Amino acid sequence: LAQKDYKLWLQYEKKTNSKTISDYLSNIKGIVVLEDTETLKIAKNELHTALNDMLGNKMQAGAKLEGNNTIILGSKLALSPEIQKEIGSGFDLINDEGFIIKSISVSNKNHIVITGKKDIGVLYGVYHFLRLIQTNKPIQNLNIADSPKTNIRILNHWDNLDRTIERGYAGFSLWNWQKLPGFIDQRYVDYARANASIGINGTVLTNVNANALILTPQYLEKVEALANVFRPYGIKVYLTARFSAPIEIGGLKTADPKDPGVVNWWKDKAKEIYKRIPDFGGFLVKANSEGQPGPQNYGRDHVDGANMLADAVAPFGGVIMWRAFVYSEHDANDRAKQAYAEFVPYDGKFKENVIVQVKNGAIDFQPREPFHPMFGAMPKTPLMMEFQITQEYLGFSTHLVFLPKLFQEVLEADTYQKGKGTTVAKVVDGSYIKTKLTGIAGVSNIGNDLNWTGHPFAQANWYGFGRLSWNPNLDSETIADEWLRCTFSNDENFISPIKKMMIESREAVVNYMTPLGLHHIMDTGHHYGPGPWVSNLSRPEWNPVYYHKADKNGIGFDRSKTGTNATSQYAPEVEKLFDNVKTCPEKDLLWFHHLDWDYKLKNGQTLWDGLALKYQEGVDQVKNMQNIWNKAEKYIDNERFKEVQMLLQIQYKEAKWWRDACLLYFQQYSGKELPVGVEKPA
Ligand code: GCU
Repeated sequence: LAQKDYKLWLQYEKKTNSKTISDYLSNIKGIVVLEDTETLKIAKNELHTALNDMLGNKMQAGAKLEGNNTIILGSKLALSPEIQKEIGSGFDLINDEGFIIKSISVSNKNHIVITGKKDIGVLYGVYHFLRLIQTNKPIQNLNIADSPKTNIRILNHWDNLDRTIERGYAGFSLWNWQKLPGFIDQRYVDYARANASIGINGTVLTNVNANALILTPQYLEKVEALANVFRPYGIKVYLTARFSAPIEIGGLKTADPKDPGVVNWWKDKAKEIYKRIPDFGGFLVKANSEGQPGPQNYGRDHVDGANMLADAVAPFGGVIMWRAFVYSEHDANDRAKQAYAEFVPYDGKFKENVIVQVKNGAIDFQPREPFHPMFGAMPKTPLMMEFQITQEYLGFSTHLVFLPKLFQEVLEADTYQKGKGTTVAKVVDGSYIKTKLTGIAGVSNIGNDLNWTGHPFAQANWYGFGRLSWNPNLDSETIADEWLRCTFSNDENFISPIKKMMIESREAVVNYMTPLGLHHIMDTGHHYGPGPWVSNLSRPEWNPVYYHKADKNGIGFDRSKTGTNATSQYAPEVEKLFDNVKTCPEKDLLWFHHLDWDYKLKNGQTLWDGLALKYQEGVDQVKNMQNIWNKAEKYIDNERFKEVQMLLQIQYKEAKWWRDACLLYFQQYSGKELPVGVEKPA
């Protein structure tokens, strides 16, 4: 049964309804593959096995088009002129990674063709086609053309070389460096399959807090072996580059980006890597952030550092993803303002193959943050989104939180930078400014746990991340629907309540951890559980008290004009909205304002009462999730049912822990009774 957990959303469960099966089979009699590339072999095998599994039929897969109702696989150039004619101008609608799925008629015979400009498009098309069948959708008269909206759709593994994972809660790293390159774990293949099925086309294998050793020949040989596995699945390998590597493994005295020796060292290093891995993606860099080395160590700036590396990989088509996650202890006035302050003046100064990677919010992957003010604020620089799939601040892999809801909220946010409708999604997908590079990164939640992600429902966050990186405008409800059907069951009695549960889970976690705009009050270091009282850490901005600022007069961080004026980093329309306490959305209230305990919320409650009731609501929501889940027992396998049930029990206990800890702590300042409806701590 553990196999079910392992198979993710690629269960290919046998259909039970004979009418459904015969409907599908009447349209699918065989498979024809017009090309013999590695990628097409994968596409054929996937289609063949999946169809046989789902439809219980031993269908033929060949190379010659015969008979009727065949699924034809082949990229544009492999198609016969008759088939090409049937596609017509379809190829104009897609990009190099896109696909077309079309019901066609050739010589009076009906077929379905799955094609793309390149063979990877065919593979993506196959996964799309299979998803139609997985989710019981009709396959008559198909005419689908779809392409990814971003170029770089990438996982960031925060994996260390000793196989521990920074902020990883699903076991150890998949990459078995000790046995590589000779031993290729089947998991590498299954990882690539899962990623390709949702359109992910890149992976950064190593932690942003980087170890230079990964760039030595001993390790590059292992990286090469992984790249060889991933290549036919359309996945490029990237590495993190430790800025001081020229010193640590190169024997140089400096890592100054203007030093000719350093410049040459990186050029040679790039050459060495590309000799092994011709399609190596490039480097992800965390520099001068949280103690990591960087150009500022030598009096240089981010532009100097990024451009030097960009020059090294440019001859080979490589990319530098330079992170904007910086904040300094020397300017502790408002950490939320620092990345913008440091980076926006560099707009237009980065080389063409540099993309600046920005976290979704200005602090750090909180249950809720307003969108990062850098989005839309650098019209001459490509910016890529960094989401965190691993739930560092959202209950690890113990709490059920459906993240696509969070991702969607950020992507839909309107930056107003080029007038109304300049959403974050438009900045990220390149429709705001036409840049060569666009991308979305997700800090991976994958480890070597049997079920990959620790919590069975955390698989949905990997899935949803991939789907949103393909199309940032997808609706999270659609994603939940697809994922549930592919992973568990098509039974409406299961789908509809569980989907609701997933969608609500995001607001639940916000309510029981950080309602009304509170943030970063998790216990320090590990970030699990409440710790609003912590105040003794050496850097002020590491202490939760810095973020909630509760005192006798109230609670919240004043980032308006009367405070740190962080609101001024947004476009005027958004600035106005957030700055005015009357128009500031209440979900972000204490992010932007410090308010009296008696401040009246829109519903008439005082701030204290409202806050306490939100904590209670979060607890009630988890209770409700438990009730919903308990009714799911008869629709799914016992193992996954039990796992989720136990995890929800922990989540419920911990939601109460959050509520009680935070309310007891804040109560010292508010000096007020808990309102009716809020359970008293035991
Ligand atoms: C968070 C996280 C760190 C991580 C950092 C980053 O602060 O706690 O573990 O290194 O983000 O994104 O660089």
